[in-house]
Amino acid sequence: MIYLDNAATSFPKPESVYQALDKFARTSLANPGRSGHKMALASERVLDDARHALNQFFKGESPDRWIFTLNCTDALNIAIKGTVDPGDHVITSDLEHNSISRPLRALEKAGTISLTRIASNGGYLDPEAIRTAITPKTRLVAITHAANVLGTVQPIAAIGAIVRQANALFLVDAAQSVGVMPIDLKTTPIDYLAFPGHKALYGPTGTGVLYVGPRAKPRAWREGGTGGDSKTETQPEIMPYFLEGGTPNVLGVAGLLAGIRWVVDHDPDTLRRHEVDLLQRVVDWVETAEGWQIAGDWDRDRHVGALSLIVPDGLTSQDLSSILDTSFEIAVRPGLHCAPYLHRRLGTFPDGTLRLSPGPFTTDDHISTFINALTEISAGVL
Ligand SMILES: Cc1ncc(COP(=O)(O)O)c(C=O)c1O
Repeated sequence: MIYLDNAATSFPKPESVYQALDKFARTSLANPGRSGHKMALASERVLDDARHALNQFFKGESPDRWIFTLNCTDALNIAIKGTVDPGDHVITSDLEHNSISRPLRALEKAGTISLTRIASNGGYLDPEAIRTAITPKTRLVAITHAANVLGTVQPIAAIGAIVRQANALFLVDAAQSVGVMPIDLKTTPIDYLAFPGHKALYGPTGTGVLYVGPRAKPRAWREGGTGGDSKTETQPEIMPYFLEGGTPNVLGVAGLLAGIRWVVDHDPDTLRRHEVDLLQRVVDWVETAEGWQIAGDWDRDRHVGALSLIVPDGLTSQDLSSILDTSFEIAVRPGLHCAPYLHRRLGTFPDGTLRLSPGPFTTDDHISTFINALTEISAGVL
């Protein structure tokens, strides 16, 4: 299978991730923090090492501000629902994944918040549009760093500065940028950073992360056992346990830690360039291919490794994806990619687009096979 669906979840993982998972599962998979024995301590140490690795990689305030979650959706829900109060105003954009759009729309429908959805242009947001939308009631601005449908990278430093000036909180969804774009929490005013462990950090599914900056004071989320302090009647207020009730996915975090180390060794910018170079070949092909179009603007310096193709009349992205799968052994993702507002803006709603997302192990030959397959399918149908 030629796997071009890394924006959904990465495959394959680096060898070191499989090895870490196997070794941890066989030697140390005890309940972290719950008991004082050696295996429990080894298990706790993996969580600790991963929080330190994250804090160092992103230059956060301290390791205990990194919360392990189920996935990016979980991290975003903790930040959004733990922050807003009745009467608050929230700003978001039409680029967002449903994991931001749905919780915010639900809060808006319930009458809890008022919501402004900023329009993108060619896949990019103008920070000035956010400045204009801010009101005295704006409590939270929730924006994606890289749009999952288009791969376009947003100016989060400029947006963050505007949000900070307004004394609101800035939530960045880094699902598509983490591991390939630099994110420096020392210099970029971000209050919450949410991302999955299972995409370009190469952890297994079931891993996600939320960074809670010092200005953010979320409410407790999943209240329950934390192991360390059983006396208090309510959730102990000490981070990270305040937001981490229940046995954590320590096996997943062991894999994630190996993934983070692999990314650090391979350099995020080098990884991004490899993926964008591969996409450039598809962009060049689209320019010569009848009926095909790139969705959004193509600016390779402000792009991660996801690209959406608008398919020719007479084909649907769903049909194409299934032909690619069954006849060519190529995995891509068709449809709306959980981002209906963006597809409405692009005029590709409800059929959507055909998204390809190479990864670090995708080769030039894989892309040649993909291009040849699209050429062959187009020739047969058009
Ligand atoms: C931009 C963006 N945000 C959030 C998510 C949700 O991630 P998860 O599936 O880990 O909850 C995704 C997943 O594709 C995404 O692309």
